[in-house]
Amino acid sequence: MASTWRWVCAEQDIAEGDSKGFELDDTALFVIRRSARFFVFVNQCPHLGIRLEWLPDQFLDVDGYFIQCSSHGALFQAEDGMCIAGPCAGQPLTAIEYDVKDGQLLVLLD
Ligand code: FES
Repeated sequence: MASTWRWVCAEQDIAEGDSKGFELDDTALFVIRRSARFFVFVNQCPHLGIRLEWLPDQFLDVDGYFIQCSSHGALFQAEDGMCIAGPCAGQPLTAIEYDVKDGQLLVLLD
């Protein structure tokens, strides 16, 4: 199936330094906004293949820097999704390509 660009939200729906989860058809994904960039990943921990958050839109650690899996505490870098601590260290989250057009965030999904 060809990949298609899908609308996620308006750019300003995600505050600087914040994260937010979305469901698009069968894909659960989350977005982090930091330093005028977005980081978009599939919401699936490489450890057990389950969702990362415990509470809605809570994908970051207490310092708001690393992505944290709520189940066993794995920490991931926002820049590349790589797990740097925890049971899946060395395994990355799956990144999703995104674009911003006219203030709207779009993602490329299969
Ligand atoms: S399921 Fe994410 S660290 Fe275990």
